[in-house]
Amino acid sequence: MEDDLADTFTQVVAQLDAPLVIVTTVAGGERAGCLVGFHGQCSIEPVRYVVWLSKANHTCRVALHAEHLVVHLLDRSQHDLAELFGGHSGDELDKFQRCRWTPGPGGVPELDDCPNRFVARRVALLDEGSDHVCVVVEPIAAHSDTPVTPLRLSDVGDVEPGHRNDERPMPPTERATTW
Ligand SMILES: Cc1cc2nc3c(=O)[nH]c(=O)nc-3n(C[C@H](O)[C@H](O)[C@H](O)COP(=O)(O)O)c2cc1C
Repeated sequence: MEDDLADTFTQVVAQLDAPLVIVTTVAGGERAGCLVGFHGQCSIEPVRYVVWLSKANHTCRVALHAEHLVVHLLDRSQHDLAELFGGHSGDELDKFQRCRWTPGPGGVPELDDCPNRFVARRVALLDEGSDHVCVVVEPIAAHSDTPVTPLRLSDVGDVEPGHRNDERPMPPTERATTW
């Protein structure tokens, strides 16, 4: 993309100031989760939601084999949790030793400190060659509590992602877990 177009595109999209969520998942007993800004409802009937996971992320590699994902809303007061899940990779540490969680369907971690959340079943994947994979899910359970004031992109400018989008593992199935 030309520099001018890229700059203007970034300025336009930044105005949306996306609300952030934490997406967790599990496959073969391996838990994963990361901070996600690319997400949204994508069908009304049947209800479908979509999250885009970076191919660089541990969470993406686990989600490709997973049945369940949990989408957790974050309140503006939860910068620390956003930093844990967005600023560190499961390739380096076990995030689930540093937060409170309860196993949900199939053992998928549900974060106790995020009571506004839904559990979903994976129904489709789209990889069109870009650096994120599109994961379409169907909600199967939901919990709601006092509504959040969403934590947004502009609230976490100080969080450096645990993986840059161009850090793809080679081979793509590699697990770099050291814990
Ligand atoms: C503000 C912000 C938004 C992010 N949005 C996404 C996203 O939409 N999808 C994604 O896969 N990663 C996203 N990330 C990056 C991951 O949360 C981050 O690289 C994380 O450390 C990956 O952890 P993992 O390797 O354990 O999966 C975002 C990070 C930040 C700071």
